[in-house]
Amino acid sequence: MAKDTVTVIDNRTGQQLELPIKDGTINALDLRKLKTGPEDFGLMTYDPAYMNTAACRSSITYIDGDKGILRYRGYPIEELAERKSFAEVAYLLLHGELPAADQLAQWKGQVTHHTMVHENVKKFIDGFQYDAHPMGILQTTVAALSTFYPDAKNIGDPECRKLQILRLIGKVPTLSAYAYRHRMGLPYVPPDNDLSYTGNFLNLLFKMAEPKYVPNPVLEKALDILFILHADHEQNCSTTAMRGIGSSHVDPYSALAGATAALWGPLHGGANEAVLRMLTEIKTIANVPGFIEKVKKGEGRLMGFGHRIYKNYDPRAKILKEMADKVFAVQGTNPLLDIAIELERIALHDEYFVQRKLYPNVDFYSGIIYQAMKFPVDMFPVLFAIPRTVGWLAQWEEMLTDQEQKIARPRQIYTGHWERHLPEYDAAAAGARA
Ligand code: ACO
Repeated sequence: MAKDTVTVIDNRTGQQLELPIKDGTINALDLRKLKTGPEDFGLMTYDPAYMNTAACRSSITYIDGDKGILRYRGYPIEELAERKSFAEVAYLLLHGELPAADQLAQWKGQVTHHTMVHENVKKFIDGFQYDAHPMGILQTTVAALSTFYPDAKNIGDPECRKLQILRLIGKVPTLSAYAYRHRMGLPYVPPDNDLSYTGNFLNLLFKMAEPKYVPNPVLEKALDILFILHADHEQNCSTTAMRGIGSSHVDPYSALAGATAALWGPLHGGANEAVLRMLTEIKTIANVPGFIEKVKKGEGRLMGFGHRIYKNYDPRAKILKEMADKVFAVQGTNPLLDIAIELERIALHDEYFVQRKLYPNVDFYSGIIYQAMKFPVDMFPVLFAIPRTVGWLAQWEEMLTDQEQKIARPRQIYTGHWERHLPEYDAAAAGARA
């Protein structure tokens, strides 16, 4: 009978090691038993960018990149997007199960209770330049919240963690909307407790002089679906940042500010902003073939294409492509959509993209939809950060309660100079003095 082990032979010493295989992995620490002598540290693995290293066990999100599958707590993303609200999905990600009606009502009430921010936070935001990028404002004001809630450092107390989770999920949309209003020179409006999570966010962004803001139901629903699609995506760059920073046992505001920073990069959550800039630069459908040729020559990337995990059509991109039409029916069409569709059509048949399994990812269509909803381009990564806050917090909670986790601390292969001395330094004399 086949054994669940792998046998490693160290040809340097002839040492043979039988390593157990558990959940499709070997324990990297077992390799340390392979040593060339007592002075040897032991064999390590080398895996820059964690291409083949599982750093945790997680029961939150499952992805099969080859088949294009994404599930939260076992539920396919398509079913959740079609039948559940973001509030329910947030509860699911954090608690492991969908809420019953009374649990949902209580959950919504708790989050709503935490949507307001301290008046001093508004003063911080006022201090930013008029054209400050809203993601920079969000990142820094989230970090600043740690100074408002010093109790948050009690990360070992489950009740304390729960309170910070509610505060963050409640306040991140408020901070995001205030970053936008600062940019637009508009006064900050208070949250509206009658509205849904996304309805209230639209109110915080767009309310003007009307006594009661009424969100457009199609846009409210579209944003809710966008939030569901972006809520978690297992061990991506920003989640790894959240877990890594959180593993030092710092408060969650500081960890979440770091995750937000990671999300801002153009290879991650900044990609939808980059997609919009790319489409605007391409300008017309006639310029698409020329642009593709440039990408193939290595002169830039086709933003919104390719994914570390998906080597198939990103299931979220499929849902968004369909949703685009509903939003355009309300807001009018976005001419950039035609350029995007042409780019996709050509790329999906081009040998360069086919060979490398490069398909549209979630960012390819989200930017076009956000633009149709009248969001300025630099709000796009912020719109990603709001729902991802839930995923980051679910992963943070899981990491802190996982007995196998310790402070994150990878190894390195040292490639620098071996010991050497400053010219005037007399090593022998220094030895004698000692
Ligand atoms: N356009 C053109 N070529 C690409 C693209 C692209 N978008 N993505 C990858 N490639 C090519 C690379 O040049 C490389 O080609 P080579 O083998 O000839 O050198 C090959 O495909 C593999 O690329 P890697 O960079 O090794 O792939 P990796 O899995 O490390 O990168 C990433 C994934 C970063 C997402 C990449 O596909 C990319 O830069 N895409 C554009 C940015 C983007 O859309 N990011 C959003 C990701 S989704 C998210 O974060 C929510």
